[in-house]
Amino acid sequence: MPVLRVLSTVAKQALQAPVCGYQPLAVTARCISFSPRQVPPGSDASFHSVSFSETDHPKVLITGMMSDFPNHRKRFGKNNVILSDIRKPSSHVFHSGPFIYSDILDYKNLREIVVNNRITWLVHYSALLSAVGEANVSLARAVNITGLHNILDIAAEHGLRLFVPSTIGAFGPTSPRNPTPDLCVQRPRTIYGVSKVHAELMGEYYHQRYGLDFRCLRYPGIISADSQPGGGTTDYAVQIFHDAVKSGKFECNLRQDTRLPMMYIDDCLRATIEVMEAPAEALTMRTYNINAMSFTPEELAQEIQKQLPDLQVTYEVDVMRQGIADSWPMNFDDTNARHDWGWKHDYDLPELVQTMLNFIGSESQIAQAT
Ligand SMILES: NC(=O)c1ccc[n+]([C@@H]2O[C@H](COP(=O)([O-])OP(=O)(O)OC[C@H]3O[C@@H](n4cnc5c(N)ncnc54)[C@H](O)[C@@H]3O)[C@@H](O)[C@H]2O)c1
Repeated sequence: MPVLRVLSTVAKQALQAPVCGYQPLAVTARCISFSPRQVPPGSDASFHSVSFSETDHPKVLITGMMSDFPNHRKRFGKNNVILSDIRKPSSHVFHSGPFIYSDILDYKNLREIVVNNRITWLVHYSALLSAVGEANVSLARAVNITGLHNILDIAAEHGLRLFVPSTIGAFGPTSPRNPTPDLCVQRPRTIYGVSKVHAELMGEYYHQRYGLDFRCLRYPGIISADSQPGGGTTDYAVQIFHDAVKSGKFECNLRQDTRLPMMYIDDCLRATIEVMEAPAEALTMRTYNINAMSFTPEELAQEIQKQLPDLQVTYEVDVMRQGIADSWPMNFDDTNARHDWGWKHDYDLPELVQTMLNFIGSESQIAQAT
């Protein structure tokens, strides 16, 4: 998912709207006085006296980075948003605005970044996704759980507004699957899902215990044209577009009737901004399902074939991915998000397919011409 597009959108919002997202200093102080990771007396605690004026904009740190993104950053106020990752950025990313190396497992480094840059919002995308996580459980446990603990402590200590995405993968085979409501049994069977349930519960706990302004959306599978799939179970729904345009053939690693909730990236990014900017009193919960559409590989292929009738799709099921998909929601109930902060998606399947093919088709034409 192109996190840098979040960056651009967040920066745009930051420039348009004065003051949003600051915890009052009183809340910050309350957080710090009870913080689970106390700063020892007499040490470098002088940053506690920092306060923000009414005209300040949010200063956003985003963890986790994608290699590709449209060059929107300059337009949207690049200095208000700092992108971070452990991966080397493309030259495009590197030259377009602030980027810093940050390993979320390095707590002191995170703290230094937040303090030195007067960060006020933290958007925490770094994670290992479902299929990659199953292939390396101990790393997934470290990044998704220990890393999250660092993020929660940093956010609580510095009065940050914190966004952490969760996922359909936070549900399991004993959850109601069609539809899946916000509150129900959550017994996922992947380390990814377990770590995301942990993130939801820890965020909500920190909200109640320390006043942390924690906000969380459970994303469906996210479909985006300007990034490569990151090792998730819904990756097929991105790869099919690239293969359809490039070769006219696609081998799907899920069964043709596997129904999963999905969303186009623009809807996902807009939802993220909207929940971050929602007044606290509008939020009756701190973790919301959001949804746009649900489809199977067969339905997606049929929609693409309306534009590319020669597309051939074959099915070579990956047992591990299929097992994960069969335990996930088929449809997501996002009634609460729609009611509380006005969530409304723009893209259904036909618009999604048209947009993806336009984007990838034009990229492919550019590549051929150069
Ligand atoms: N892509 C989806 O369909 C989807 C669906 C639901 C939720 N989400 C959530 O959205 C977020 C972003 O997903 P994505 O698709 O961009 O994943 P991704 O795998 O493309 O990106 C995750 C990033 O985390 C970084 N990272 C890994 N270890 C790190 C560390 N120790 N310190 C700092 N960074 C580290 C990686 O380098 C990578 O750039 C994740 O939290 C994921 O759970 C994604």
